[in-house]
Amino acid sequence: MDKFSITGPCRVMRGEVSISGSKNAALAILAGTLLFDKPVIIENLPRVRDIDTMLNLLKSLGSSIQFFDNKKTVKITKTKKQKQFASYSIVKTMRAGILVLGPLVAKYHKSISSFPGGCVLNGNSGRPIDLHLEALKKLGMKYEIKKGYIHAKSNGKLKGNVIKFPQISVGATEQLVMASILAKGKTILKNCAIEPEIKDLTKFLISAGANIKWIGKRTCQIIGVNSLNETKYSVMGDRIETGTFCVAAALSKGDLVIKNFDPKLIKTELSILKKLGANIKLSKNRIKIKGPQKIKNIKNITTKEYEGFPTDLAPQFMVLLCKANGNSSITENIFQGRFLHVMELQRLGARISIENRTAKIEGNTNFMAAEVMSSDLRASAALVLAGIVSKGKTIVSRIYHCDRGYENFENKLRKIGVKIKRLR
Ligand code: UD1
Repeated sequence: MDKFSITGPCRVMRGEVSISGSKNAALAILAGTLLFDKPVIIENLPRVRDIDTMLNLLKSLGSSIQFFDNKKTVKITKTKKQKQFASYSIVKTMRAGILVLGPLVAKYHKSISSFPGGCVLNGNSGRPIDLHLEALKKLGMKYEIKKGYIHAKSNGKLKGNVIKFPQISVGATEQLVMASILAKGKTILKNCAIEPEIKDLTKFLISAGANIKWIGKRTCQIIGVNSLNETKYSVMGDRIETGTFCVAAALSKGDLVIKNFDPKLIKTELSILKKLGANIKLSKNRIKIKGPQKIKNIKNITTKEYEGFPTDLAPQFMVLLCKANGNSSITENIFQGRFLHVMELQRLGARISIENRTAKIEGNTNFMAAEVMSSDLRASAALVLAGIVSKGKTIVSRIYHCDRGYENFENKLRKIGVKIKRLR
């Protein structure tokens, strides 16, 4: 298993970082290609492991995949050998594997899909898919669970309905948007998640002729169409990668230009970074960020659904707050168990205590290098960030988590002055 070796502290972080395509938007869009008879071209894919997993899943389902532009562009074409079996062996490492269920039932009226894997973020509660299944049932899908697989079918086309999600869920919203596209009649989805990745998915589907309208802040109306047209779509930039590099700059008195990302999509994160003392200048698709000489503390950051602060950036911001000039806290509202990285940060010298859903963080930490282990994707990024400002050589193991979601992470960091190596 690969490891990162980081020699810190990094004293000069400067230069340009080009943001890759959004992993989470791309995963949903790739699952959406199952709704098509005609070929689809997707551009700006990030070259990360989760995308390979989704492409392998599509291949196993019979889609033909051609790569262009160093594998950042794919042409996906339906074949005559299309199958409806999403195997555990492929989806076990990735939560987004469940997103093929809705499209398969919508298009082929049947599917056998494994329960998905992915990051362990929710303590003992796991990561349920009840919201997906209950809502799909309301469109006419019937299902049984046998040996870890969801055996689903519908009596012909799914049928439009009015569905109010009892809880906001990114995945369930994406699942239902996709399942409704080819359904008979009108579907109204209420209490939807409105993360930018969901808007990217709807833009992609609209580009192919889907009839989707946002008729309220969290209400989406979909009128079923018979088929989708050929389309070419470029995936949005990754807001979590953008946020991670903003934290890197703020942590190490860096001076970075972050390109290929629309700063309007991360207003909440940028306003917190400003409060912490970062100097930020925005222009179209570009963020110029200078880290402060002394990082200020902040009373509390609370993770919330978009447009709130994203849970996927909480571990990285925690590292920043460890270096703040005073105490701070982070309250995690989305995933209960999302504090596994705390123990590893403590090994580097962080002073953090957990009370229920809140991490209390003491500032002015002098991070000292150590061997640490990643527990999930965003935790691995947080450990790398802490390694960057730790004195000595930090070894981060289990970086396969990092490879699931960050494209070329070590090369991008090396280019801006970080001493980081991959040990194989
Ligand atoms: C997506 C993102 C993930 C991000 C999360 C929250 C992808 C591939 N992953 O995950 O990076 O951290 O949004 O922004 O896009 N829940 C249920 N039942 C369900 C579904 C969800 O109880 O059927 C709960 C979850 O356990 C969690 C909350 O709802 O507590 C929100 O989860 P959800 O928004 O669905 O996250 P994902 O789509 O899994």
